[in-house]
Amino acid sequence: MSDNNFVVNAVNLTKTYQMGEVEVQALQGASLQVQPGELMAIMGPSGSGKSTLMNILGCLDQPTSGQYFLEAVDVAQLDDNKLAQIRGKRIGFVFQSFNLLPRTSALSNVELPLVYMGVGRGERHRRAIAALEMVGLGSRLHHKPNELSGGQQQRVAIARALVTDPAIIMADEPTGNLDSKSSEEIMGIFQHLNEAQGITVIFVTHEPDIAEHTRRVIRLADGAIVEDRPILNPRRAN
Ligand SMILES: Nc1ncnc2c1ncn2[C@@H]1O[C@H](COP(=O)(O)OP(=O)(O)O)[C@@H](O)[C@H]1O
Ligand SMILES: [Mg+2]
Repeated sequence: MSDNNFVVNAVNLTKTYQMGEVEVQALQGASLQVQPGELMAIMGPSGSGKSTLMNILGCLDQPTSGQYFLEAVDVAQLDDNKLAQIRGKRIGFVFQSFNLLPRTSALSNVELPLVYMGVGRGERHRRAIAALEMVGLGSRLHHKPNELSGGQQQRVAIARALVTDPAIIMADEPTGNLDSKSSEEIMGIFQHLNEAQGITVIFVTHEPDIAEHTRRVIRLADGAIVEDRPILNPRRAN
């Protein structure tokens, strides 16, 4: 256990990928502390280690060295089952490519994490509908992904991330496949979830305009954090 209230406490993370004879140093001593209720963006050029860092913070991957405490729990000490359990309960993931099941309604897509958690049918329905209403899709419950716009599909994905009632939402370039109007809508939802529900939101973006909607931006270069700055006047999404 670490003696603090950080939701994320990463200390001196390194990650080395072995590519045949070549070692790629994707992270070179990155440290990051995040308080509960923060809304922050991770920026940096392609190949700077953003996805590698997000995957470690999301417990999808382990660092080569360094320590990572998620809500004060040292994740290196957990077995795979316990890790999967914490990941499922505490973290909601949103991806650039939405990752929805095709030919499956918005409602069923959002219910899926609850099916895995063994939640009964009635409660599953109720919670999935509430999550879809929260992202403004209460009138699209039975639409399939190909009957929804890109922005709406990403909102279904956010509802799916929310439905388990996570402490943190982590998103790797969630607006990367969206036009600027849809991107603005997604930022509005993140701002709302962060402010109304106190959910910690950490996401990667390439776009300075998108990062300006948060309250904190860190910048990676060559696997190290080279900037960590507050946004004093976050842009409001409409
Ligand atoms: N699975 C992997 N195997 C080998 N090298 C990888 C792997 N994933 C990422 N890398 C390398 O690690 C570095 C950082 O990658 P990544 O974290 O994906 O950066 P970003 O998300 O900022 O574009 C890059 O040089 C990339 O080629
Ligand atoms: Mg990436």
